[in-house]
Amino acid sequence: MQQNLSACGVEPKLVDHLTDLHPLLDRDGAVIISGPECGDEATRALARQIFADQTLAVPDAARVFEGGEYDHARAQVTNHIATPAHTDGFAYGDLYPDYMLLSCVRECANGGESVLIDGYQVRQHLLDHPEFSWAGHALSEVVIDQTEAQMQTALSPIVMDNGRGRRMVRKTLEQRPCADSRDPERDALMIALWRDTIDQAYMEAPRFKLRAGQTLVVDNYRMLHGRDPYDDLQRMLWRVWVWTTGALGVPELPLASDTRHASVRTN
Ligand SMILES: [Fe+2]
Repeated sequence: MQQNLSACGVEPKLVDHLTDLHPLLDRDGAVIISGPECGDEATRALARQIFADQTLAVPDAARVFEGGEYDHARAQVTNHIATPAHTDGFAYGDLYPDYMLLSCVRECANGGESVLIDGYQVRQHLLDHPEFSWAGHALSEVVIDQTEAQMQTALSPIVMDNGRGRRMVRKTLEQRPCADSRDPERDALMIALWRDTIDQAYMEAPRFKLRAGQTLVVDNYRMLHGRDPYDDLQRMLWRVWVWTTGALGVPELPLASDTRHASVRTN
């Protein structure tokens, strides 16, 4: 990839009032709000305030705390490795949450910067590419296997439509050609181009640090998120997933803001 990918990285704007939030969320795909309390229930309440009568589900918050709150084996924590850009909640298959909130209780002094990649721009980059335009088109046409191990089945294109004009993109850890693909090599190349373009955009993207007392609101249908490594194991955030009337649908499963209920074994 020779072309400039700088348009794919997004540094969200900071607002102090809810009334300023939606225009920026719609424009940039993400925004940071400062002011509301950053507890678990407070973050759920904030989500209901933001999405108001469009809110369909706001499950219990999940603690984002590397190493585990009660984990004594902290030698095995993964905070020293960057988390590559991804979509949240893909364990729920095609019915992944359309929005996500991350509220920061405690930031870390060194590292832990967040990165946001605009999936719509990544697709556009491929569509505009002289050599890989076919892949940009194939993203919305070719059904692949996006099922996470033991989780809800997802046989669908990487780029989808919610049926009411809202575009959904997805970057999971295990995207692969379907077992019955007519051209698995071509599908694998499309997936590799999607992944590699995102990873390259990640390298070039601006970094920003979520500070204690700030909440990041992310359009999870559009944006891919990741974070850099860090070294303070007390770093702690609350994550809240949100399903709104703009979502493809709400899973008919117990919901949480992590994957604990998304396993096929709980069905
Ligand atoms: Fe995530």
